[in-house]
Amino acid sequence: MTHEEVIQHLEKTVRPEEGVIPSYVMGDPKIHDIEHKKLFTKTWLFLAHESEIPENGDFVTRDLASYSIILTKGNKDGIIRGFYNMCTHRGMKLCRADKGNKGQFTCPYHGFTFQNNGDLVGVPLQKDIYDGKLDFAGMGLHSVRIDSYRGMIFGTWNEDPEPLTEFLGDFKWYLDLALGRTEMEVVGPPQKYVINAHWKIGADNFISDSYHTMVTHGSIARLGMVPSSKYSKKGYQVHTRNGHGFNLGVPNPDFAFPEELIPEYKRNLNEEQFDLLSNIKNMIGTIFPNLSILVSHTEIKGKLISNTSVRLWRPISVDKMEVITWFFVEKNASDDWKERSRESFILTFSPSGIFEQDDTEVFTDITEMASGYIPYAKNFNYNYTMGMHREPVQDFPGPGVVYDDKFTEANARAFYRHWLDFIRK
Ligand code: FES
Ligand code: FE
Repeated sequence: MTHEEVIQHLEKTVRPEEGVIPSYVMGDPKIHDIEHKKLFTKTWLFLAHESEIPENGDFVTRDLASYSIILTKGNKDGIIRGFYNMCTHRGMKLCRADKGNKGQFTCPYHGFTFQNNGDLVGVPLQKDIYDGKLDFAGMGLHSVRIDSYRGMIFGTWNEDPEPLTEFLGDFKWYLDLALGRTEMEVVGPPQKYVINAHWKIGADNFISDSYHTMVTHGSIARLGMVPSSKYSKKGYQVHTRNGHGFNLGVPNPDFAFPEELIPEYKRNLNEEQFDLLSNIKNMIGTIFPNLSILVSHTEIKGKLISNTSVRLWRPISVDKMEVITWFFVEKNASDDWKERSRESFILTFSPSGIFEQDDTEVFTDITEMASGYIPYAKNFNYNYTMGMHREPVQDFPGPGVVYDDKFTEANARAFYRHWLDFIRK
């Protein structure tokens, strides 16, 4: 089948409004190719947080839809810029380090040197071998479009994208609770691991699947490591335009954030947002397509402590992804609170965390069942009908389509609707 034929087949078989999602969307290699071409090279994708490159000259190399880019903070002007990480002489990868501090990048092949504003500034022996006629001005690094919200830097290969602020839209109201309540900073480099799992399973799990927690993570409660009430369906599920969504667990008897920062939270959030933050037990969601956000609470030394992280489900192939996780902490919290929050994260959702270990087993097994050429496995329809009989609530203070129950698949239906609309554009 050509890509166009696959897309026509998708239009007939992916029916989110009926709760029908076929398994081949997680297992067919053609889907990976189509997603790369029609989705990942067109939409905004998360790259880094500004706190990862605080000083002039700091840089990180990141992946933007499977292409390496350099994000660098100008050593003279402090402006954050993105460049395709490719030397303009013969196409060598210019920078092979994950991070560092440099005013200039010198290519390891023939030694062309670029200022970190992208300008070509040095070429070995150029006067002699090019007779002084090399077009320096036309050989700068290729700029990549980037933009940021609350310190979160996104990039896109789309030459005419919807502005980032509109892409995030009403979802910002919720994102502010997670990452805009105070100045947040990334702790350490992001953690990375590769698993044999399809990327949408992670995005889908975080945007819509609170239902799995009682069973997948049941052993954690039976061991007494978390109260079983953590898996309650009480709370809200909300989605906004463009396929973004959150699950908000409430109520929470204890304030799980640093109390000394309450005045700061009140400055950065409106009254309704602060009330929700005070009452929240967990927040789990996804910014379309593949950035998931998590605010979770764990009891550390007798006190409920929150931890905040984001993770990217970066597709490598249809059945393989890299999971990249950034752990965030309140910059102005005490060292003691930061340490306890880190402990809370490591115990739960870091690569060694008890929840994350459970989830990756599920993600890899679903991928295995959806892969290959057995007709039943390829054409099987997942059931996404949960909560279809419910109506959204009208009295919730935040924007979007809101349900007063976390056990529904409304967010997944909205996610796959947007996914389908996006790739058939
Ligand atoms: Fe970079 Fe030749 S490829 S200097
Ligand atoms: Fe889980």
